[in-house]
Parts: sequence; structure tokens; C-alpha cells
Amino acid sequence: MCTNNCKDEKMKALDVVLDDHGHDSGSLITILQKAQDIYGYLPAEIIYYVAAQTGTTPAKVMGVATFYTQFRLEPVGKYLIMLCKGTACHVNGSDRIEASITTELGIQNGQTTEDGLFTLKNVACLGCCSLSPVMMVNDETFGTLTPEKAISILNDFRSREEA
Ligand code: FES
Repeated sequence: MCTNNCKDEKMKALDVVLDDHGHDSGSLITILQKAQDIYGYLPAEIIYYVAAQTGTTPAKVMGVATFYTQFRLEPVGKYLIMLCKGTACHVNGSDRIEASITTELGIQNGQTTEDGLFTLKNVACLGCCSLSPVMMVNDETFGTLTPEKAISILNDFRSREEA
């Protein structure tokens, strides 16, 4: 679990990012990407901090953070499931995949399981339509999904936790 020391380490890492980019509001997207890498999402206090450090307004930083779908304003589970709902995946059954995941995990799109392990997020095309239907779990891509295969993949992640 994160302690105050942990927070301090994160803030130090963010300060390095801000220094690397000259505290330049023209680099907001990159700064926010790296802030999200550090924190896992963009907490409100970090929006304010980045605004103050780059000489801009929280509203502008928030505008960037909400415009791009890559940014998260809420904490996510250890494993972020990004289920593609693009056209090719839709045609090839992404709704059935979503139904199996929501039933298995007991969460809906945008929610996180009570144990903090999984967050489900529906996304637009992941750029690998030939593998549709597709989902990513963190950095790993899984294609030609069936409902059974999707559940099996989630169970593999659960097993990793238990190992
Ligand atoms: S539509 Fe799903 S990867 Fe393109």
C-alpha cells in the first residue's frame, strides 16, 4: 500500500517530468501522460499541481485530460481491460464478449471490481481489426475472442495473483 513516503516519491518523479519539459504548458499532453504513468490516473490535486507548475489554469489542464480518451480521472484496477467496441469488433461479437465479462466480474463498463483487480473500459478501435473481437489487458492484446476465451484469459490473470 502507498504511504506518505510513496506519495513523496511520486511527486519527486513528477517534478523531474516537469523539469524535463521546462514547465511548458505546450507540453501538457506529454506531462499528463507521464503523470498518469506515475499515479495510474490523474488525481484532481495533480491537475491543479500541473496547472500551477506550467503557468496555466486547472480548467485548461482539465480540458486536455478530458478531451483525450487515454487519460483517466479515476483510479483503475490493477488490470485495465480495454474491450474494443469498434465496428469490426462489434460485427464479430464484442457485445457477447462484454456480456460474459460483466457477468463474470459483476461490473459494468467503467467500473472496478471490489477487490481492485479489474476495471472494464469499452474503447474505440484498438487498431488490430483483423484480430477482432479484441481486448487489451494492460499492455497485452488478445484477439479472436469468444466469451469462453475472454473468461479464461481473466482467470489466468487471477491465477497470476494467487501464484
Ligand atoms: S474495431 Fe476492434 S480493433 Fe478495430
